Amino acid sequence: MVDRVLPARLEALVSLVPPAGIVADIGTGDALVPVALIRRGKARRVIACDKSAAALDVCRRKLEQYELSADERRSIELREGDGLSPLKSGETQVAIIAGMGGLTITSILARGPLDVADTYVLGPMSHQKDLRLFLQAGGFTLVDEAMIRQGSKFYEFEVVVPPASDGAVAQPAAGQMRARFPLMLEGEIGALLWKRRDPVLKEYLVHREGKLRALEERLERTSRAAEIGRIRKELLKLLSKWDARWNGQGSTGG
Ligand SMILES: C[S@@+](CC[C@H](N)C(=O)[O-])C[C@H]1O[C@@H](n2cnc3c(N)ncnc32)[C@H](O)[C@@H]1O
Repeated sequence: MVDRVLPARLEALVSLVPPAGIVADIGTGDALVPVALIRRGKARRVIACDKSAAALDVCRRKLEQYELSADERRSIELREGDGLSPLKSGETQVAIIAGMGGLTITSILARGPLDVADTYVLGPMSHQKDLRLFLQAGGFTLVDEAMIRQGSKFYEFEVVVPPASDGAVAQPAAGQMRARFPLMLEGEIGALLWKRRDPVLKEYLVHREGKLRALEERLERTSRAAEIGRIRKELLKLLSKWDARWNGQGSTGG
């Protein structure tokens, strides 16, 4: 059974997908996510897309090995193409874009068309801050966030709703954008994770502060070291607020 071997990162991703009729999985790789969605009844049909014909060939072979019933196999359709281009307007309720860098996800969303799905579940492997800044500037609404730790690696996920009509409607004002997609520490950390006092976020703050301290020491007195030092001090302030909030003594950090 595929579900038993689902890695923790993909388990977290699948759990964030709202129950939907049709889900698209962009950059599906070996189709573990589509299979889990169908087997768990979270989707009636999954359109598994990948820009690589070779990846889709591997995916086809994997699907044979997963011992799917005829109905389950029919529920997963493979499509080749770049980003969202294999999908039609209004074709799905949810599109997942995960397991690639934040800049690749940004580029896929920027090229659209965004009206192929109502909701996007994103799982960037890097450049999380760049992705957050793009999502806020693009008028997306942040619906949910999650973070997990696997060994020394932290994985972040965002569930977002795109702006109406794929940009045909005038961009919202800056204040509205901030309300729809709040940023913490210039996008360094997830605002909803902070609001919920997510315990993994606290581990991440401690970990990130340590990493930044090491980098700051290595760069010594350069302007980059000063910038890193500024962010690191902000992280330390958040950590002290976290403990104050936990004890019911402080106000919000946001
Ligand atoms: C590491 S796999 C990720 C598999 C799975 N989504 C996950 O989260 O583990 C990345 C996949 O994304 C595909 N990919 C990268 N850029 C893409 C794009 N612009 N459009 C569609 N697929 C893309 C690659 O071909 C590859 O199969």
